[in-house]
Amino acid sequence: MSMRQRPRRLRKNPAIRNLVAETHISTQGLIQPYFVTDGTKIHDEITGLDGIYRESVDSLLTTLNQDIKSGIKNIMLFGVTENKDPLAATAYNNTNPVIRAIKEIRNKFGSELFVSADVCLCAYTDTGHCGVAFNGEIDNDKSVAVLSEMALALAQAGCDCVAPSDMMDGRVGAIREKLEANSFTNTIIMAYSAKYASSYYGPFREAAKSAPGKGDRTGYQMDFRNRKEALRELKLDEQEGADIVMVKPALAYLDIIADFAANANLPVAAYNVSGEYAAVKLLAKAGLADEGKLVLENLTAIKRAGALVILTYHLRDILKQGWTNG
Ligand code: PBG
Ligand code: ZN
Repeated sequence: MSMRQRPRRLRKNPAIRNLVAETHISTQGLIQPYFVTDGTKIHDEITGLDGIYRESVDSLLTTLNQDIKSGIKNIMLFGVTENKDPLAATAYNNTNPVIRAIKEIRNKFGSELFVSADVCLCAYTDTGHCGVAFNGEIDNDKSVAVLSEMALALAQAGCDCVAPSDMMDGRVGAIREKLEANSFTNTIIMAYSAKYASSYYGPFREAAKSAPGKGDRTGYQMDFRNRKEALRELKLDEQEGADIVMVKPALAYLDIIADFAANANLPVAAYNVSGEYAAVKLLAKAGLADEGKLVLENLTAIKRAGALVILTYHLRDILKQGWTNG
């Protein structure tokens, strides 16, 4: 057979495959999430999230010390607390474990780490909803006021980047205004711009003790049947002053990531969420897949779709196991 085109020529050996590979995972572009809780000496396992723990501030500092040695440079903090009330006061006061953690991290590690923190109320409201309730509804504007206080408190503690994940309207603009008014002109806002109401958040809600008591999040998070609406949210967050825009979850939303990459003038991030991580762990545990290969395939797909930054629970394992795709 005589053929001009033989695509297999470029697949012949690792050297040629690596030479022409279009997508590479660099751990510099990955962010490791952490769950910070009240108390001391706490290092609890989380159902479904093998290798991820709920830690008190002292334990977190020990973990971070090791993680920095293995090469982790970027972190995202989530709070877990029993101090819940209707107005989510712990979201912005000094008992918030994330606020306490950031101060300690700054003392101990200086600017070695890029520290981001989630801005949402679901871990702090007694209802488990991402906003505060008023007359039986999640009140958008009242929630935005509390979220802005929370973002300011995080910035005051020394946070590099605040990441609103609540999906209230206008929260990015309100947070930006609040930060500017208080001279936090360098605080980065990484907006969860297209955050869908997803079943892939299951293990996270267990971890953060943040599942809604009644109802679900479909009144504020996006409907996964919609694609155009994501571009609308993207535009709004750009106009309101976001620095980085995020799509979440990642794997079932690669089309949305690609839309963001094509339309955003800002860096695009994607959140490889808890359920996606748990699914990989389950497949690997059952002996149905090689964990390292699966992780690289998933993260490469997210990058190939157009994400520059990926938040992923796998980062620690990637560094420890030396998983790499050249
Ligand atoms: C808080 C928040 C959630 C996640 C990130 N921030 C949960 C939710 O919206 O219910 C999910 C992250 C994950 O599943 O890994 N709003
Ligand atoms: Zn929330």
